[in-house]
Amino acid sequence: MASSLYHLKFVNLLSFLSTFHLIATLSFSSVQPLCRGDERSYLLQFKDSFVINKSASSEPWAYPKVASWTLEGNNNDCCSWDGVECDEFTGHVIGLDLNSSCLYGSINSTNSLFHLVHLQMLNLADNHFNYSQIPSAISNLSKLTYLDLSFSAFSSQIPLEVSQLSQLSSLNLGRNSLELKKPSLRSLVENLTCLEKLDLSEMEIISMVPNILANLSSLTSLRLGNCRLLGEFPVGIFKLPNLRVLEVWGNEGLIGHLPDFQWSSNLERMDLSNTSFSGMLPSSIGNLGSLTTIFIWGCNFSGFIPSSLGNLTRLNSLDLSLNTFEGHIPSSFVNLGQLSFLYLTGNEFTGPIPFELANLTKLIALNLGGNNFADQIPSSIFNLTNLEFLDLSYNYFSGTVEFDKFVKLKKLTMLYLSYNQVSFLESETCANRTLQKFVNLGLAQCNLSKFPNFLAKQDELELLELQDNNIHGQVPEWVWNMSKESLKAIRLSHNFLTSLGQHPILLPWTDLAILDISSNNIQGSLPIPSSSTLQYHASNNSFIGKISELICNLSSLQVLDLSENNLSGPLPQCLHRFGDSLVVLDIRRNKLEGSIPQTWANGSKLMIIDFSQNKFQGWLPRSLAKCKTLKALDLSNNQFNDTFPSWLGSLPDLKILILRSNKFYGPIKIHNVNYEFPNLQIVDLSYNSFTGMLPVELLLNSNASRSDLAYHLSYIQVNSSLVVEYNYQNYEFQFKYSFSMMMTNKGVNTIYEKVQEIFTALDFSSNRFAGAIPESIGNIKVLHLLNLSNNILTDHIPLTLGNLVKLESLDLSQNKLVGEIPQQLTQLTFLESFNVSHNDLVGLVPQGKQFNTFQNSSFEGNSKLCGNPLSKKCKYYESLPPLSSTSEKSQASRSPLQFGWRIVMIGYGCGLLVGVTIGHVVIARNHVWLMKTFGVR
Ligand SMILES: *[C@@H]1O[C@H](CO)[C@@H](O)[C@H](O)[C@H]1NC(C)=O
Ligand SMILES: *[C@@H]1O[C@H](CO)[C@@H](O)[C@H](O)[C@H]1NC(C)=O
Ligand SMILES: *[C@@H]1O[C@H](CO)[C@@H](O)[C@H](O)[C@H]1NC(C)=O
Ligand SMILES: *[C@@H]1O[C@H](CO)[C@@H](O)[C@H](O)[C@H]1NC(C)=O
Ligand SMILES: *[C@@H]1O[C@H](CO)[C@@H](O)[C@H](O)[C@H]1NC(C)=O
Ligand SMILES: *[C@@H]1O[C@H](CO)[C@@H](O)[C@H](O)[C@H]1NC(C)=O
Repeated sequence: MASSLYHLKFVNLLSFLSTFHLIATLSFSSVQPLCRGDERSYLLQFKDSFVINKSASSEPWAYPKVASWTLEGNNNDCCSWDGVECDEFTGHVIGLDLNSSCLYGSINSTNSLFHLVHLQMLNLADNHFNYSQIPSAISNLSKLTYLDLSFSAFSSQIPLEVSQLSQLSSLNLGRNSLELKKPSLRSLVENLTCLEKLDLSEMEIISMVPNILANLSSLTSLRLGNCRLLGEFPVGIFKLPNLRVLEVWGNEGLIGHLPDFQWSSNLERMDLSNTSFSGMLPSSIGNLGSLTTIFIWGCNFSGFIPSSLGNLTRLNSLDLSLNTFEGHIPSSFVNLGQLSFLYLTGNEFTGPIPFELANLTKLIALNLGGNNFADQIPSSIFNLTNLEFLDLSYNYFSGTVEFDKFVKLKKLTMLYLSYNQVSFLESETCANRTLQKFVNLGLAQCNLSKFPNFLAKQDELELLELQDNNIHGQVPEWVWNMSKESLKAIRLSHNFLTSLGQHPILLPWTDLAILDISSNNIQGSLPIPSSSTLQYHASNNSFIGKISELICNLSSLQVLDLSENNLSGPLPQCLHRFGDSLVVLDIRRNKLEGSIPQTWANGSKLMIIDFSQNKFQGWLPRSLAKCKTLKALDLSNNQFNDTFPSWLGSLPDLKILILRSNKFYGPIKIHNVNYEFPNLQIVDLSYNSFTGMLPVELLLNSNASRSDLAYHLSYIQVNSSLVVEYNYQNYEFQFKYSFSMMMTNKGVNTIYEKVQEIFTALDFSSNRFAGAIPESIGNIKVLHLLNLSNNILTDHIPLTLGNLVKLESLDLSQNKLVGEIPQQLTQLTFLESFNVSHNDLVGLVPQGKQFNTFQNSSFEGNSKLCGNPLSKKCKYYESLPPLSSTSEKSQASRSPLQFGWRIVMIGYGCGLLVGVTIGHVVIARNHVWLMKTFGVR
């Protein structure tokens, strides 16, 4: 089955850990004044306007500070209350630090808080204000120098009054669902000229970064992550003399480049990740000697890493992942003695890893995955004794890798070597030694011929990848006892396993989320993983017997792929119990029989149902129409005996309906042409007994003519992922299930391993459709493939077919069509295959353009057709010499038929990055590195 693994790196933007400012507790002298009575009662009113709710705060150290605010006992000096600070001389409340205080409730301008007009410092971060607006009465607190309302469930537009707090030196409103449109970012900062710290992360700003920010010369910290900023980032901001923290990550629309840093700078932290910054790293970056953190992953940077980077000796974390950097790792990295975190993932780095890496003894995480590094894995890696995390996967490392060497890295618990050209070698003694406990192990395509023995004693594994190896035969019994409680994902696909050996029918891994045993040759009955399982991939094996009813206990199952086995008997009727979790149900190509389950529930999340190539019979249950999210339904090659399921017309997302080779019958009536089947793109009704007129209305409503590029490049597939947290990163293993299908093209079964979202096809062939081809067919302008062959169609070929400008394959053969082939068809510049054979067509074969590429066979069986490529000359048409290479060409075009598969690349030059591909898509070893930003809460 076409499910493939993608590594996907994701940054858990822990950088947002807001800086909590602790108020220095002043040591009070004996002249300490008591708090003022009015302010005390404002505080108590404030306290009473909220409820205490532990889940309103998320920091682990959160506690309700206001709990101590009480008049009981001798406690009425509010200046001594937790979180309250008073002026030493006047006794006015000047500071309120209630961050992470479990406050829950709405707040508005009538709140007594806004009577505390002497407040200079207010911190309400990490509470829950129930999506209140920031009250405009905030302007009463005109002495505020410090305001932190971050991460507190405020919402909507920031009031203008915030920009009147002109004394503010620190403003943090980040991580709320706030907007900053009117006032704009520009007008907000125009007045706030004293700002030193500004944090507006994760709110909706949607604007350019105003140049005026570069005037805030006192600015030390600017955090604007994930604000949907646009346009060019002002270079002047890099020049701010006091700036230490600059974060604009996650603004994908923000463009910019790094300037020539010919000035001294205090910049310590620079996070431009996941923006559209581009260009090279200037050599002058070596002048930013204070830098400890550079995060620029997921931008459009390119070029070589300047060796001056090695001058940044304070550097602790460097993440250049997901750009197009090239060249070698500079040997100057030897000077980065403080570096503990180095991520170069997903670039085009080449060469061996420099031995200087061995000097980076503080390194605890090294990710070189997804590059073009080659040669042996250098022994210098084994000097990095602090390493916890090592990812070398998806490179071109070669040679043998001795596992014993990794054992010396005592802290190493996450090791990924998958998809290189290495052979993983385990010594005999290894199994009996005490090893570190691995958590994640990626050993896919490591030339393993058996399960490594050391795994037997691993009891903390969460993720184990052993797919694409040469593991033969039976699974050893100890495998079933390995990491019983911890294992979350195990992939054994694409090996040569023949038996699961001794295992209980219910597999023992109690917390398993993903089990992939597909593409082996495993015999025996189908094992059932634990009820925690989210994805079960067992396709392409030799499992026999019934599918046990126990499978329905997998109550969270999202993907069930049992395709291409020898499973028999009826489907368990309890399938509907997957209720609202199952998204993909694929049991294609087994020997299952009987009727399909009758009960399909409302609330179903099913997107793909593939029952094709079994022996199912009978009617289709009408309750299938309850699966409102269905995108693809493939029932082909069974013995269903029913009329056309026009009752599926209400499904808003149904794109693919394949009923090929069943016993469907009767005319097809679409009653409400404007509303039914609003999204169909691929309809295959071939090899049934449908009668009546061609139901071209099925596609007339199609929305398929979307033009955005992203849509053109995407496939009908289901993505899901397993996220492994490490350090500031979430490391995501993404599993893609791609819908695959077979369609018949010129009598050839063609497998589409992936189906592009834009692919549009109609196959009505081999039925008993009669009458003329409706002219309205010319309105389905998005059609790529049209097959009407082997029906009883009469009359002329409609001229409107010439409007189907995207058509790549047109088959009208074996009908009773009359008249001439319309000259308009020469407008179909993408037409790769054309067949009108065995009709009663007359006259001249259209000449020129694509028609010069079609062979005799496209036209044969029309005794009155003439002109090239037919040998029959037209009466008044000057004949051309026959093509000398005809026989050779037809040979070439026939040869793929011998394999039963066909590879046809069509549509090149049509302006898409990837043309629509008809046929077997060869998935190259071409791993796409994807990314996403990810909020914490
Ligand atoms: C403001 O909040 C108070 C107390 O929570 C409430 O009684 C009052 O109705 C609110 N006023 C407005 C205008 O929403
Ligand atoms: C700037 O501050 C002044 C004085 O507080 C105020 O009147 C004015 O409205 C503010 N401007 C903006 C754009 O907020
Ligand atoms: C690194 O720093 C040294 C000493 O400060 C300087 O001489 C050298 O030019 C710098 N190297 C680069 C590549 O900037
Ligand atoms: C790496 O380890 C080897 C052997 O343990 C040692 O000889 C060598 O000096 C080390 N290299 C560095 C750069 O520490
Ligand atoms: C790297 O490590 C080796 C071996 O420990 C040492 O001899 C060498 O001086 C180190 N290089 C630097 C630049 O620190
Ligand atoms: C490992 O230990 C087992 C049982 O303790 C023993 O039978 C086996 O011979 C040992 N293997 C090696 C290679 O030492």
